[in-house]
Amino acid sequence: MKNWMDKTIYITGGSSGIGLSAGRLLAEKGANILIFARGMNQLELAVEKIKSHSASGSQQIACMQLDVSDHQAVHHVMDRAVNEFGCPDLLINSAGRARPGYFHEISYEQMDETMRINFYGVWNPVSALLPHMKQKGGHIVNVSSIAGFLGVFGYTDYSASKFAVIGFSEALKSEVRPYNIQVSVLCPPDTSTPGLEIENRTKPEETREISANAKQMHPDEVAKALLKGIEGRRFMIIPGFDGKLTWILKRMLPGLVEAVMDAKIRKVQNQKL
Ligand SMILES: NC(=O)c1ccc[n+]([C@@H]2O[C@H](COP(=O)([O-])OP(=O)(O)OC[C@H]3O[C@@H](n4cnc5c(N)ncnc54)[C@H](OP(=O)(O)O)[C@@H]3O)[C@@H](O)[C@H]2O)c1
Repeated sequence: MKNWMDKTIYITGGSSGIGLSAGRLLAEKGANILIFARGMNQLELAVEKIKSHSASGSQQIACMQLDVSDHQAVHHVMDRAVNEFGCPDLLINSAGRARPGYFHEISYEQMDETMRINFYGVWNPVSALLPHMKQKGGHIVNVSSIAGFLGVFGYTDYSASKFAVIGFSEALKSEVRPYNIQVSVLCPPDTSTPGLEIENRTKPEETREISANAKQMHPDEVAKALLKGIEGRRFMIIPGFDGKLTWILKRMLPGLVEAVMDAKIRKVQNQKL
């Protein structure tokens, strides 16, 4: 998919951060954009921001309130969306969140919520939209993370949910190929979004130290890498040099990656003694 003019794009989590940047960029290229999130005020503000980037006044830019972790609501709202806006050519599942902490601080309730938002929040829209998408083909992008292929200190619940997103996407990819549907996963590094600001409030010092030297990306840069990845029909889309290097090292030299992270963790823990 390289010509975005008049294409229909659904973006969960499109009211903020990476999802909003993707919406703006695709609107600039002439696409119709429908965004989903829970907060209505934020959604309406985002619609105005996306509209201001539209290539023409005839594009449809709209929002629907939705909690992606609510299976029944997702099916109901997505059916309405398909009736009103048509089946998506591209679905971007960007809704998600991270609340890092030491394992003993993460309650069962937090773990459950993390899986419901970050994993079932991907599974639900895909299950609601696939029957429609199978009839015309399209592309699905599920947003994971660097912490979705590398278990990172302080992210026991988050990493588990984002690993699940990659496993799900890899399994789905070959099942839907006969219907001319592509599947990709986006694995952003730390990206300067409102979500990262909240995440940073509870980040253990060891977690901060691990990513201290990594370059933080802007969500617009991540959105550009996302589009390039979709256009290049890539499965793994990893924005930025640091992320790509981590992916290669994790596969080729996993022991080295672990040793580097362990050294950083020990440095912080020794300072605490
Ligand atoms: N920023 C980073 O450093 C980073 C790095 C790697 C991966 N990621 C991933 O990238 C994605 C986007 O992150 P971001 O940093 O752009 O976050 P963000 O700025 O906090 O935006 C998150 C978006 O998701 C929506 N959302 C959250 N929970 C939802 C739910 N249950 N139902 C529907 N919408 C929901 C939010 O709106 P409401 O709260 O109003 O619902 C908002 O629109 C997430 O999956 C995140 O895990 C981010």
